Amino acid sequence: MTQRTLVLLKPDAVKRGQAGEIIRRIEAKGYALVALELRSATPEVLAEHYAEHEGKPFYQPLVDFMLSGPVVAIVLEGERCIEGFRSLAGATDPTVAAPGTIRGDLGRDWGLKVQQNLVHGSDSPESAEREIGIWFPGL
Ligand code: TYD
Ligand code: MG
Repeated sequence: MTQRTLVLLKPDAVKRGQAGEIIRRIEAKGYALVALELRSATPEVLAEHYAEHEGKPFYQPLVDFMLSGPVVAIVLEGERCIEGFRSLAGATDPTVAAPGTIRGDLGRDWGLKVQQNLVHGSDSPESAEREIGIWFPGL
C-alpha cells in the first residue's frame, strides 16, 4: 500500500543541524522524497495544521515554538509510510522515545519542552491528505 505522508522537521531540528541526519534516516528506510522545502511557518498555516489541538494547554506554546525558526516541510512516499515514519520518529515525548528512533536518539539533551521533539508526521491517511494540502497545495 503506497502512501504519502507529511513530515515536518521542526525548528529545533533545523537549529541544531539535524536536518541532514533525519533525512538520511528517511532515505535509508527507503522512502522517496516527493517534495522538500525550507519554510517559515505562519500563524495561519499552523492554525490549520494543529486545528485538532486548539484549546489544549500545550497549543499556544507549540505554535510559538513552530514560529521560532524555519522548518523543513517534506512529503514522503512509500509502502505504509504514514505508520512507518511515525515508527521511525518514536514516541511524542523525546525523554521516553525508544533508542533507535529519531526522537529517542537525537531528542532533548537540554531538558526543555515536549514540543521540542524534532519532527512531525501525519497520523492517518486522512491527516496526511489534509496536511499535504495545507503545506503543498499544488501536490
Ligand atoms: P500530538 O499530535 O499528540 O503528538 P505527535 O507529534 O507525536 O503526533 O501532539 C502534537 C505536538 O504537540 C507534539 O509533537 C508535541 C506537542 N505536545 C506537547 O507539547 N505536549 C503534550 O502533552 C502533547 C500531547 C503534545
Ligand atoms: Mg500528531
